[in-house]
Amino acid sequence: MAKTKTAYFCQNCGAQYAKWIGQCTSCKQWNTVVEEVVQKEEKKAWKASSSTLQKATKPLLVRDIANDKEIRLNTLDQEFNRVLGGGLVPGSLTLLGGEPGIGKSTLLLQIALKLSYKTLYVSGEESQKQIKMRADRVHPNSENCFILTETKTQNIFQQIVALEPDLVVIDSIQTLHSDYIESAAGSISQIRECTAELIKFAKESNTPVILVGHITKDGTIAGPKILEHMVDTVLQFEGDRNYVYRILRSLKNRFGSTAELGIYEMQGSGLREVNNPSEVLISKNDQDLSGTAIAATVEGMRPLLLEIQALVSTAVYGTPQRSATGFNAKRLNMLLAVLEKRAGFKLAAKDVFLNITGGISIDDPATDLAVIAAILSSNSDIAIEKGACFAAEVGLAGEIRPVQRIDQRILEAEKLGFQTIYVSKNNKIGLKKTKIQVKLASKIEQVVVELFG
Ligand code: TYD
Ligand code: MG
Repeated sequence: MAKTKTAYFCQNCGAQYAKWIGQCTSCKQWNTVVEEVVQKEEKKAWKASSSTLQKATKPLLVRDIANDKEIRLNTLDQEFNRVLGGGLVPGSLTLLGGEPGIGKSTLLLQIALKLSYKTLYVSGEESQKQIKMRADRVHPNSENCFILTETKTQNIFQQIVALEPDLVVIDSIQTLHSDYIESAAGSISQIRECTAELIKFAKESNTPVILVGHITKDGTIAGPKILEHMVDTVLQFEGDRNYVYRILRSLKNRFGSTAELGIYEMQGSGLREVNNPSEVLISKNDQDLSGTAIAATVEGMRPLLLEIQALVSTAVYGTPQRSATGFNAKRLNMLLAVLEKRAGFKLAAKDVFLNITGGISIDDPATDLAVIAAILSSNSDIAIEKGACFAAEVGLAGEIRPVQRIDQRILEAEKLGFQTIYVSKNNKIGLKKTKIQVKLASKIEQVVVELFG
């Protein structure tokens, strides 16, 4: 019997060593190197037909490469298509990461069930009965979706050869194991080997494959970074589990932009696509509430109107509390310092809480002015005039700075029936005539006077 071979792998970056070391020399992380059994054999799980194996590719002039019209597999899910850049590219590998329970399995099962192509959904996490129960909830009558509960890649490929599906979904890559590697499922070498086998299969059969990837505590996809390098597209599914909204982002996309964003709402019957996000994210409250302001933001390429809530109260303890949900806490501190220094508001002895409703987190600097407006409104207990929204960054000198894509923001606000929008004086506005009143400001004092008199 062959001697078992072992090697040492860094669990952070995937670097391989012959012996154990305390600090990985390539990524400089401590205590990440662990021993794993590797036993490579020559033959691989996915065997291509001999004709493709022998065909070595020759270099070609770019202009001679056949430019077939790009065909993409329409997933019938507008949000998913948008994030992918127009649908799944044949032969591509897509990795979907996200925290446990966020809805990765639900999203992919839902897509697989809806498609009119033959799809194979491979699960290493749930039994066929469990998946059936979920399928009945999200899309009861599906004609073309096959469910396989298997974790061994060799067996999966056997079924794929027999079934010839048009789309393969693997839930999840961390549960797969290949016979050619000895170490446990979920280990670096297993993940790498299984992904490599799947890539080979995808490229040779021109079938798109979607993988589910678990996320570690610090928010990165479990397994080596190389997993992200190996696949064509990396998507991230995020959101607060206690809220119903989920955001699908693309972190890497070889076939499209990474600026796109998809929004879903988790319902009892699966995930619903949210095509008009601004309408659902703003509460339709008729009462005048102090401490809320609407920000006209842009996430990726999409304009998005968000409601920002602030609560300012007298600090009970010596050190005031500052807490922000969905907004960068450091930025909040900076804005408070600006208010203190430039606009003369005494907030040093006040607790300030900030919340972006809907469980969405945002890092568009154009929310600054709305955050300031919400804080001042709560501080003075005066509601902001109805139908007003904000789109501007605030600088350290208290100046109101221009933001990108201002026309898009103004149009979205107008579409949703807002009457006024506060923007920077220095923003170049391309729009000629707008129903919405655009108020230009260059300093926060000006906005304060406008809003609170
Ligand atoms: P799941 O897809 O299992 O998450 P992941 O695969 O990312 O771990 O999602 C599970 C959550 O979704 C669970 O908490 C229940 C909720 N859910 C609904 O609210 N409605 C539904 O129709 C389904 C199927 C799940
Ligand atoms: Mg799951």
